[in-house]
Amino acid sequence: MAVVARVFSGIKPTGSIQLGNYLGALRNWVSMQDEADCVYCVVDLHALTVPHDPAELRSATLSLGQMLMAVGLDPDRCTLFVQGHVREHAEGAWLMECTAAFGELRRMTQFKDKSESADFVSGGLFTYPALQAADILLYDTDQVPVGEDQRQHVELTRDIAIRFNSRFGDTFVVPEAVIPPSGARVMDLQHPDQKMSKSEDSPQGTILVLDDAGDIERKVKRAVTDSDNEVYFDPDGKPGVSNLLSILGASTGRSPVEAATGIESYGDLKTTTADAVVEMLRPIQARYRELAADPAETGRLLALGADKARQVASATLDRARENVGLLAP
Ligand code: AMP
Ligand code: TRP
Repeated sequence: MAVVARVFSGIKPTGSIQLGNYLGALRNWVSMQDEADCVYCVVDLHALTVPHDPAELRSATLSLGQMLMAVGLDPDRCTLFVQGHVREHAEGAWLMECTAAFGELRRMTQFKDKSESADFVSGGLFTYPALQAADILLYDTDQVPVGEDQRQHVELTRDIAIRFNSRFGDTFVVPEAVIPPSGARVMDLQHPDQKMSKSEDSPQGTILVLDDAGDIERKVKRAVTDSDNEVYFDPDGKPGVSNLLSILGASTGRSPVEAATGIESYGDLKTTTADAVVEMLRPIQARYRELAADPAETGRLLALGADKARQVASATLDRARENVGLLAP
């Protein structure tokens, strides 16, 4: 058994990284680097499941790689790579598709949600969770840090691993999801009943990690609150104010209740919160700008990450190929 846990997670290169991604997921990825053997991946193949522009995808993939390094993922302390650079993912996905049941894939709520409103539903959108299962299983992953919305995909991955192992002999490690507590949810500033999200539906309610200080101040100042002008934490009764307290707390390493101490008015809450967010993001933005100025260096680091990833993935895939009965080349 491995002494330290293997951790794997992935993020799609669609839309700009927002504060919720950082506070709810990426910051956690960074802190896990020193506790576990972490593998993190920009999942560009998953981005192909919906209509996209090729040039935009290419630039979003590079820019997300830079962003992941800017928030603190260190290629020396984790394996950071682009999914499409490691061909084993696509081949592994085929083995997963042939192990998952049609009915299981059809029950995935993300597929139902995304396919209902879409003009074009690709086959890849349907088999998306099989590719995700390959991502996870190729690395003998113990833990998968993801948001609540991904729990079902990780459950399916477990079921696929268990089924494959029982049909073809012990091949894959059975992973588990690690879901952060609900406190890690950042809500939209304009619609505090909805999660802040990367999609561009609510630009005024979304703080992007690359927003400048003026934008952040303006968005926080216009955040929806309520009319009683009392600052305390009550997510059900006072969702807007509580969201600002959560953001302030998370930005300054305190609980939302602690963050409320000494704050007398909504004006004060907004100024303090905006300042805290600006301060927290400042070094990330500076580092991002440095990396963005030298795309060749990011490319080099991502290529090294892919080499490291490929070593693990190809060994697992060889084992799976052998066990499932493919003739060795
Ligand atoms: P997505 O933007 O849906 O691709 O999410 C990437 C990661 O960020 C996932 O682990 C999400 O759970 C997390 N995440 C996205 N939005 C939020 C939010 N508003 N609050 C907390 N975590 C979030
Ligand atoms: N489906 C995930 C999302 O939408 C992204 C993802 C792809 C992923 N492969 C993964 C997450 C493997 C964890 C592990 O957020």
